[in-house]
Amino acid sequence: MNKGLRRPIIAGNWKMYKTVKEGEELVNGLKRELYKVTDVDVVVCPPFTLLVNISDMLLETNIGLGAQDTFWEEEGAYTGEVSAKMLKDAGCQYVIIGHSERRQFFDETDESVNKKIFAALKNALTPIVCVGENLSEREKGIAFDVIKKQLDGGFKGVSEVDIEKIVIAYEPVWAIGTGKVATPEQAQEAHKYIRGWLSKAYGTDIACKIRIQYGGSVKPDNIKGLMANEDIDGALVGGASLKVETFTAIVMNSR
Ligand code: 13P
Repeated sequence: MNKGLRRPIIAGNWKMYKTVKEGEELVNGLKRELYKVTDVDVVVCPPFTLLVNISDMLLETNIGLGAQDTFWEEEGAYTGEVSAKMLKDAGCQYVIIGHSERRQFFDETDESVNKKIFAALKNALTPIVCVGENLSEREKGIAFDVIKKQLDGGFKGVSEVDIEKIVIAYEPVWAIGTGKVATPEQAQEAHKYIRGWLSKAYGTDIACKIRIQYGGSVKPDNIKGLMANEDIDGALVGGASLKVETFTAIVMNSR
């Protein structure tokens, strides 16, 4: 559906990896290798402790900065939390919301995802909203029911104007960190389902404009096959985003 309307977006989710020094080395390498890339949105999502330094390093570059989570309140007595307002202040343009690891280990629910989306939008951050089924849900044949529930709950009350500001990441849990990438056909099928949901909820014109990334064991040698599909507009990369060579190759091979 009009893939040309959507600019590819490749984001690196560093998860809980990298000290300040290691992160700076990685970013210096990416700046060196990717300064000529102007036809793909490239984003790095380091841990909170690195955001301010990396934001300074990325000024006047073509690489965007994202955080890996946010809390929905703006400020207050919420020990350990970081707000969207603070992320914006630290220099972020993006924030990952609803990653499966947050759903699995930190009690993230569709309701909390929904509140975080509104907080991000209020602070002019682009939410990268993750959805995806786990292995048993896929095996039971209920993958799309799970995705539907995550979309219904996560985007509850999100307006037509706001939905266009969002990026969706389809990340089948069984493909994350396992080396077991979804086949391009499996990924395309799920992306098509998500775009169909968007069409129903917001109309085809809007659905055509929203970018849907694939995530789960994306590597330099499988990105091309994934990107060749009509509804796959980019990738959310974990392990392979931690090295200059592999992340650069993924960006290059996505074009
Ligand atoms: P891997 O690329 O390491 O499988 O991780 C994917 C992911 O969870 C990105 O958010």
